[in-house]
Amino acid sequence: MKKLEEYVRSIPDFPEPGIIFRDVTSILQDADGLHLAVDSLIRMLDGLDYDVVVGPESRGFIFGVPVAYAQHKSFVPVRKKGKLPCETISMDYDLEYGKATIEIHKDAIKPGQKVVIVDDLIATGGTTEAIIKLIEQLGGTVVKICFVMELAGLNGRAHLQGYDVDSAIIYE
Ligand code: PRP
Ligand code: ADE
Repeated sequence: MKKLEEYVRSIPDFPEPGIIFRDVTSILQDADGLHLAVDSLIRMLDGLDYDVVVGPESRGFIFGVPVAYAQHKSFVPVRKKGKLPCETISMDYDLEYGKATIEIHKDAIKPGQKVVIVDDLIATGGTTEAIIKLIEQLGGTVVKICFVMELAGLNGRAHLQGYDVDSAIIYE
């Protein structure tokens, strides 16, 4: 059986010159690749006491929901601006290429809840840092942050000091 990293297709100069795009679709389109990725995230949570999985639109949904389902936890989506129908709080942030605003429903996290963040990839860490701020603003505690891939060269972990961070594949 192939290793998880062998399922990742890398595309140079997408979406901009100089970016090496780590393509998650090449993991998903193979049943073994999908299993390896989700199982590796679930293993990171072994024995952890937590209440809810939070995942950002859109690739965070792909991995966050199966993890939450497998562990019988709830899932809270963090969405790009203007998509959530009820009262939200929002946060602006920078990405490897561009800027964005994300939102979460105000009632999605209850004070005192223990939260795990799941996403496909950490690049600059801007997305995750913004998600942490949203969760903490609502009174939640981030107990673990799990990624399938980490672009360590961009030093995203610098934004996540003091948090428990784990990645299945690390690109130097
Ligand atoms: C990608 C990726 C992460 C984020 C990582 O999402 O899925 O959420 O960028 O980048 P960062 O560490 O520099 O913040 P993107 O915003 O491109 O949205 P998508 O999942 O809809 O493609
Ligand atoms: N999101 C941000 N940077 C990325 C990259 N290099 N590959 C895939 N997704 C990304």
